Amino acid sequence: MDKFLINGPCKIKGKVKISGSKNSSLGILAATLLFDKPVVVKNLPRVQDIRSMLYLLKSLGSKIILSKDNRTVKIINRKRMKTFCDYAIVKKMRGSFLVLGPLISKFNKAKISMPGGCLIGARPVNYHLAALKKLGMNFDIKNGYIMAQSKGRLKGSQIKFAKVSVGATTNTILAACLAKGTTHIKLAAREPEIFDLTQFLNKAGANIKWSGRTCTVVGVNSLSQTTYTVMSDRIEAGTFSVAATLAKGNLEIINFNPKIIETELKLLKKAGARIKQGNNKIFISGPEKIKPIKNIETKEWPGVATDMQSQFMVLMCMANGKSIITENIFENRFLHVGELQRLGATIRIQKNKAIIEGNTKFIGAELMSSDLRASVALVLAAMVSSGKSIINRIYHLDRGYENLENKLRNIGVKIRRVK
Ligand code: EPZ
Repeated sequence: MDKFLINGPCKIKGKVKISGSKNSSLGILAATLLFDKPVVVKNLPRVQDIRSMLYLLKSLGSKIILSKDNRTVKIINRKRMKTFCDYAIVKKMRGSFLVLGPLISKFNKAKISMPGGCLIGARPVNYHLAALKKLGMNFDIKNGYIMAQSKGRLKGSQIKFAKVSVGATTNTILAACLAKGTTHIKLAAREPEIFDLTQFLNKAGANIKWSGRTCTVVGVNSLSQTTYTVMSDRIEAGTFSVAATLAKGNLEIINFNPKIIETELKLLKKAGARIKQGNNKIFISGPEKIKPIKNIETKEWPGVATDMQSQFMVLMCMANGKSIITENIFENRFLHVGELQRLGATIRIQKNKAIIEGNTKFIGAELMSSDLRASVALVLAAMVSSGKSIINRIYHLDRGYENLENKLRNIGVKIRRVK
């Protein structure tokens, strides 16, 4: 298994280009199952999760034509597609569950493994199933699989989620697209990736409108051929913004709309970063002294992204005072804390709050990655630790960060990958 060797501390300087959004790409690729005509998706990030999703679509019968640089894909579906999604695929990448909505809507049947939990939480799919049931999907669960079918075309309905859920909103929008009639989805997730998905679908002739947290989908009979460029990855942009703030950096981050991390950039300014926004880029420089932030709370969009929580925790370890981070989205998303403590951090956990003492002198150590975002926090901490760090199991990072070590090396980080 690959690992990273990092020699710290290092200063960050230069320019980094943000890749396409992993999470937006997953929803859009799942949505291609709704199409009879060829569909082209551009700006895909070259990460493992995208390769897994393309493998899944191919296993369902889609013809996948990838460009030489693997950033553009042309997808041509067959008239008759398979509708079975194996445990081995869903277990590896829970985003596979997003094919349920399109499969049941387009083919009126699906057999898909329950995703099960993961390290950051139980991650149930009850909201997905309840919403699809309201649209006319019948299902039962046997041997860990959801056996779903619908009597003919799904029918539009009124859906009101008890809690905001990105995945459940995605699955419901995809199912409602080709349903007969109109679906109103109340308390829908409004993350930029969902908006990217609905822009893609509307470009192909879907009829989806937003009013606040209500998404209205008027079912259409079919979607037309289209080409779409996926938005940039806001978590990658946020991660590099934290890196610059952390390591007294001077960084130009290009190829993304700063608006998609507006909340996180406001926090970084509070911590002392100096940020200049340009057209599809920012210039960010880190302060000599990082200021603590009393309370950082993760929330649904437009709040602080939960996928940025671990990165902010590393930053607050280096602040000159005490900070508190509250994780409101997932019940077990402090897996990075134990590893940061091994690097020298003083962090106390009280339920979903982490109290961070600050003024940490990180000392390099051997570390273990756990989930995608916790792993990138270890990279950030190792960057500013004195001495050598080894980060094991970096396959977690390869799932969601494209070419991370080269992007970091090009801006001054002493990092290399070893087998
Ligand atoms: C998406 O996960 C993202 N994944 C996650 O990114 C992200 O952290 C999360 O949204 C929150 O923004 C993808 O887009 C592929 P949720 P998702 O449904 O859809 C509970 C990353 O690192 N819930 O919004 O699974 C759930 O347990 C990943 O890129 C139910 O209870 O998240 C959680 O507490 C990690 N029942 C909360 O809602 C349900 O049926 C929010 O989950 C669904 C969700």
